[in-house]
Amino acid sequence: MTVARGLFITVEGGEGVGKSTNIEHITRVLTDAGVALLVTREPGGTPLAEAIRDVLLKVRDEPVSDITELLLMFAARAQHLHTVILPALQQGTWVLCDRFTDATYAYQSGGRGVNPALVRQLEQLVQGDLRPDYTVLLDAPVEIGMARARGRGELDRFEREQIAFFERVRDTYLQLARESSGRYRVVDAGLELERVQAQIDTVCEELLSCWAGRREHEHDGGQGGEGGLS
Ligand SMILES: Nc1ncnc2c1ncn2[C@@H]1O[C@H](COP(=O)(O)OP(=O)(O)OP(=O)(O)O)[C@@H](O)[C@H]1O
Ligand SMILES: [Mg+2]
Repeated sequence: MTVARGLFITVEGGEGVGKSTNIEHITRVLTDAGVALLVTREPGGTPLAEAIRDVLLKVRDEPVSDITELLLMFAARAQHLHTVILPALQQGTWVLCDRFTDATYAYQSGGRGVNPALVRQLEQLVQGDLRPDYTVLLDAPVEIGMARARGRGELDRFEREQIAFFERVRDTYLQLARESSGRYRVVDAGLELERVQAQIDTVCEELLSCWAGRREHEHDGGQGGEGGLS
């Protein structure tokens, strides 16, 4: 019997919207339900990719060119994808990732102005056909996320950007959610945590019923195979 590929779930959103906080919640819900889950993040997720993350986030005097930043993001992603994410998915483990390529569209293309066609080329080069099965977008007004992020102390190279940059990031995420509405679930993250988590619980229920459906299919002698919700 072929083991069904694990579901690849990504969590996206601007600075301080609550990605880490809600990933903890999703992890609790899915793990309690018996899902084998790998929780990871981008940029990062392997020692080499985490080293690239440090390079990317460090505040420095030397200006960083947009293309340098873009290539570093995808260099980290290639390492993470090929050594961590794909092997886990192939074993049937679900992967829950804090940011992925949609963040590159939002930040490097929407925020910095890099041509999205360039992002698409690198996405194809690094990922082939692999895309997240499911993306949770935590959406909140920029000022709310910024205020939450500021509460945590020292700001990194991205957090020091101007409000207009983060407005473009938010708009790009919302546009991606409209374009890929099948895999996106948009959560109003500007509310108090309890109300955000109630929305997250609904998303988790949907994920788990998708999982139950796939297991039934496996037991019926189906091939498992590709992830995906539809
Ligand atoms: N709904 C909420 N209401 C109020 N505070 C929140 C809410 N969600 C998260 N927080 C708080 O906001 C701060 C930022 O949350 P968190 O670190 O989860 O955001 P993040 O999206 O992971 O940030 P980053 O983009 O920097 O990784 C934390 O102090 C967290 O406790
Ligand atoms: Mg975080």
